[in-house]
Amino acid sequence: MRIPGFKSGFVPLFLLAYGMSSASLAAAATTQPSLADRLSQIQISPQKIQQAAAAGKRTASFCFNCHGTEGHSTHPETPNLAAQNAAYLLVQMQKFVDGRRKYPFMEGLLKELTDEEKVNIAVYFSSIPARKNPPGDPALMSRGKQIFSQVCHVCHGDKGLGNEQIARIASQQTPYLIKSLTLYRSRTGERKDPLMSKVASQLTDADIQAVAAYISSL
Ligand code: HEC
Ligand code: HEC
Repeated sequence: MRIPGFKSGFVPLFLLAYGMSSASLAAAATTQPSLADRLSQIQISPQKIQQAAAAGKRTASFCFNCHGTEGHSTHPETPNLAAQNAAYLLVQMQKFVDGRRKYPFMEGLLKELTDEEKVNIAVYFSSIPARKNPPGDPALMSRGKQIFSQVCHVCHGDKGLGNEQIARIASQQTPYLIKSLTLYRSRTGERKDPLMSKVASQLTDADIQAVAAYISSL
């Protein structure tokens, strides 16, 4: 199957180039050990998860100002944090702090949080159920679905839910998805990830619009 607008041979070449082993994916998005260790200590028991989420909710109320009540964002370019994978949230917090992801406000804010607060907040947001966005224009959705099922599902999963290493993208805000894909593609350093930059470099602006609209409706 070939998607019009995609460079032919992109998928096989790309998959070969990256080996697609779980080891290489894990290496691409490793949580800083202390945060990852803290998270796995909590994830061993439902009671600890509940306690961490309750503590996280108290600190997270400040985050609601931009990320929306309980992490359901109402600002188009601010991501939903609700239902996001906890390990992914922690990787991103660490990336803001050490400069692998650039967004000055988030960097400054996260530097003020202790590791315990960060982990509790991640556990809290990951425990909130997602809210789907309504589907858009049918032609756009169908093109987006094609791109998703040919490329994105390989890592993000058939429903876009991701896993411990990879972002959940389902139900995310469309403008934020468009912005993120454009940042990976531009390689300006605001969002750095070799896998996603490689993927995004193969997408036209129209592909990005379509796949973002589709993903946000999942
Ligand atoms: C002033 C608005 C604002 C506040 C307050 C805020 N954020 Fe953010 N946050 C943003 C924006 C905008 C982005 C997207 C940045 C980008 O495009 O890279 C973001 C991105 C993130 C991401 C990355 C999510 C992803 O899907 O990759 C995390 C994690 C995050 N914020 C956590 C927090 C936490 C935790 C708090 C509270 C302690 C918080 N934010 C408070 C505006 C805010
Ligand atoms: C080879 C694996 C792989 C493939 C294929 C892939 N992704 Fe990703 N994606 C990742 C990883 C890993 C991350 C986290 C990168 C980071 O830390 O910034 C990510 C992050 C993202 C993000 C940022 C999410 C957020 O909350 O900020 C978006 C949007 C995204 N991917 C969309 C896509 C789309 C659309 C496709 C298909 C066109 C795709 N991805 C294909 C591995 C992949």
